[in-house]
Amino acid sequence: MGCAISGLGLAPKQIDATEEEALPHLSDHHIEQIKDSWKVIQEDIAKVGIIMFVRLFETHPECKDVFFLFRDVEDLERLRASKELRAHGLNFRVMSFIEKTVARLDQLDRLDQLALELGKSHYRYNAPPKYYGYVGTEFICAVQPILKEKWTSEVEEAWQTLFLYVTRIMKRGYQEEEKSKRNNVVIASKERPEKKGTAI
Ligand code: HEM
Repeated sequence: MGCAISGLGLAPKQIDATEEEALPHLSDHHIEQIKDSWKVIQEDIAKVGIIMFVRLFETHPECKDVFFLFRDVEDLERLRASKELRAHGLNFRVMSFIEKTVARLDQLDRLDQLALELGKSHYRYNAPPKYYGYVGTEFICAVQPILKEKWTSEVEEAWQTLFLYVTRIMKRGYQEEEKSKRNNVVIASKERPEKKGTAI
């Protein structure tokens, strides 16, 4: 199942959020491309969400295991046809997040906060950063046929940059949460030293 993306000559799997790197620069031109294309994508938002998730689970079945609900869904055709994604609302929540991201492109500090909190919640979901890059790739593949002739290498580059930006901040949030949970465990174990010789 391929996706003929990348006027940039980049293979889809090269969206990589696993390295500790600086945030990519979201230029005014990127922002304009994202906002323009979003107007079209928005009309098919539910469809994009379903296609994106089914593609994600097809290309990366290991992600399916993280979502308890879908762990036992072996037949992706059934998943595609089923109401599970819709009923669960996750599809909707992820697409609403993308919508909020687009709305905050002119206030990057607010976008940063949103993505940081999302990364923290993903630590609690047990969803590690090594998987985040796949979502942007599958989103790009899902919107390409919807944008038709409006799809250009510039639009692709703009969305790739946005996903890279968001997933890097998510990764920071994930790591902050991981660190704070680890510190809490250390503090708790210092406060409750093992009692020796108290057994009755
Ligand atoms: C760009 C990458 C991603 C974005 C933008 C994203 C976004 C979201 C959003 C908006 C939610 C709703 C809950 C919340 O706001 O905290 C959510 C929930 C969740 N995500 Fe992600 N996600 C991403 C990647 C992933 C990946 C790769 C996995 C799995 C490997 C994953 C696993 C989960 C799980 C398990 C939940 C909770 C589901 C539930 O409520 O039952 N996410 N995600």
